[in-house]
Amino acid sequence: MSETEEVKAFYKEKHIAFVVDQDSHRSFEYWLSEHLRMNGLYWGVVSLVIMNALEDALPQNEVIDYILSCWDEKTGGFGAFPKHDAHILSTTSALQVLKIYDNELQVLGEEKKEQTAQFIKGLQLSDGSFQGDRFGEVDTRFIYTAMLSLSLLDELTIEITDPAIKFVMACQNFDGAFGMLPGAESHAAQVFTCIGALAVTDNLHLLDDDTKLGNWLSERQVLPSGGLNGRPEKLPDVCYSWWVLSSLAILKKKHWIDLQKLEDFILECQDSKDGGIGDRPDNQTDIYHTCFGIAGLSLIDFEKYNFKEIDPIYCMPTEVTKKFRKWKK
Ligand code: FPP
Ligand code: ZN
Repeated sequence: MSETEEVKAFYKEKHIAFVVDQDSHRSFEYWLSEHLRMNGLYWGVVSLVIMNALEDALPQNEVIDYILSCWDEKTGGFGAFPKHDAHILSTTSALQVLKIYDNELQVLGEEKKEQTAQFIKGLQLSDGSFQGDRFGEVDTRFIYTAMLSLSLLDELTIEITDPAIKFVMACQNFDGAFGMLPGAESHAAQVFTCIGALAVTDNLHLLDDDTKLGNWLSERQVLPSGGLNGRPEKLPDVCYSWWVLSSLAILKKKHWIDLQKLEDFILECQDSKDGGIGDRPDNQTDIYHTCFGIAGLSLIDFEKYNFKEIDPIYCMPTEVTKKFRKWKK
């Protein structure tokens, strides 16, 4: 490194305070009740657990009680708030957070676990795809979250996964990347959901030649900034540090991009005064980009930051996922 090159700091304590935000209107209670819904809780918990700060920062009992209060007895899934209708995205976030605290999901109990699995299975359509709720649209996000949730519940079966994966493969385009539906434009976040669904269900071998996809993913690095974008001609954005790099990690091709430049870009997007990470340098920070910036840094070099290692398939600590990952096709 030349003398003029500056080593950028990581503002861990400020990010912890940003997530918990004890001394302002965005207190933990506030963002649970009004602001960031169940997904927000997941982004906060993942940010903290990866930084090795979960235990001290959040009251575990309150988090678990909140999640349980969002369980919707009519459908068996989880809503974003108490008394809200269940949705597959909030159900996945709820299960991920519960699993981080409690590998056996004992707090849920056998009956609710079974009903939650039935809620998810009931969202599969005859073409193998999944809808987000009983009225919702179809999108590969919902296949990924369905596969992930059923894996967390140990409820995957070939009868469910084979048609789902057939649908995923129909979403692959001529450029090797994937869209949200068959024939839809390639998008890096949709690549993550499709590769993630293949990986969770032990179907990565279906990508017999992943060079084109690897090239498409590595072309997402925008120079000179080093950040990653979601589609050609788009601006770089910190959340794609996750969607793109996790996909490359699953394909064992992380080194196909310049990791040092990406790391510098993520660090550049921190708010050094108030904590948190934004989508681009000097932009407003938020919990979503904070989570995926930290998750991206964990993929780049978790040891350097004294982080936990993150699992690129589950977006949860590997020390959690290794306890239950046993499904083989
Ligand atoms: C980009 O959205 C992101 C997606 C389309 C994928 C979201 C994936 C999930 C919700 C699945 C759950 C994920 C995890 C990690 C457990 P955007 O609307 O911001 O895209 P844009 O950049 O095109 O605006
Ligand atoms: Zn973004």
